[in-house]
Amino acid sequence: MKFFIDTANLSDIQEAYDLGVLDGVTTNPSLMAKEGISGQENVMAHYKAICDIVDDNVSAEVIATDFDGMVKEGTELAKIDDKIVVKVPMIKDGVKAIKHFTNQGIRTNCTLVFSAGQALLAAKAGASYVSPFIGRLDDISYDGLQLIDQIVNIYQNYGFTTEVLAASIRHTMHLIQCSEIGADVVTCPLNVITSLLNHPLTDSGLAKFLADHAKSNG
Ligand code: E4P
Repeated sequence: MKFFIDTANLSDIQEAYDLGVLDGVTTNPSLMAKEGISGQENVMAHYKAICDIVDDNVSAEVIATDFDGMVKEGTELAKIDDKIVVKVPMIKDGVKAIKHFTNQGIRTNCTLVFSAGQALLAAKAGASYVSPFIGRLDDISYDGLQLIDQIVNIYQNYGFTTEVLAASIRHTMHLIQCSEIGADVVTCPLNVITSLLNHPLTDSGLAKFLADHAKSNG
């Protein structure tokens, strides 16, 4: 299972990378705006800075919503670094753009996926990754994890190579349950990854070991 971090914050990306468990990064226009990154040149430079930290898989999202615009933008994004995966929204022209990028050998991440039908279309177009947003489904009383399960099953039925990238992850149980279902990738904020470390028995056990060692060693 791959772990991606869902942020455009360079220090969070560096911290997750230093932990030794990071396989990639997902960004979106909201996450870029949160870091105050604006203007074409700054945006491109920021993606390059992210690529310089991690080993692979940096999702960079197009802003255009028409086929020609997405192709133009995605082609420029892909030139930044081989690690770039062009992130394309699940709309009609987005599906066409994914097919185009697939034919050009450019990797894609189909984003804003909320149904099995959308995931099927993304896979048919050859998307490298499909991103179902489970937290946002949970927010409106739909079962986000059930969607992951459905998509994993559908892709297995037909041997699609598109990887299921569970997105909009809010907490560690989302991540654990995605791993039980068999999602290929999860993308989440740094605190979800580091929260996996926590267990009170680890803390109390370590405190006892250290206290016993101190007692017998003076
Ligand atoms: C995924 O690629 C998206 O950037 C992200 O997971 C959306 O998460 P949110 O619902 O927390 O904004």
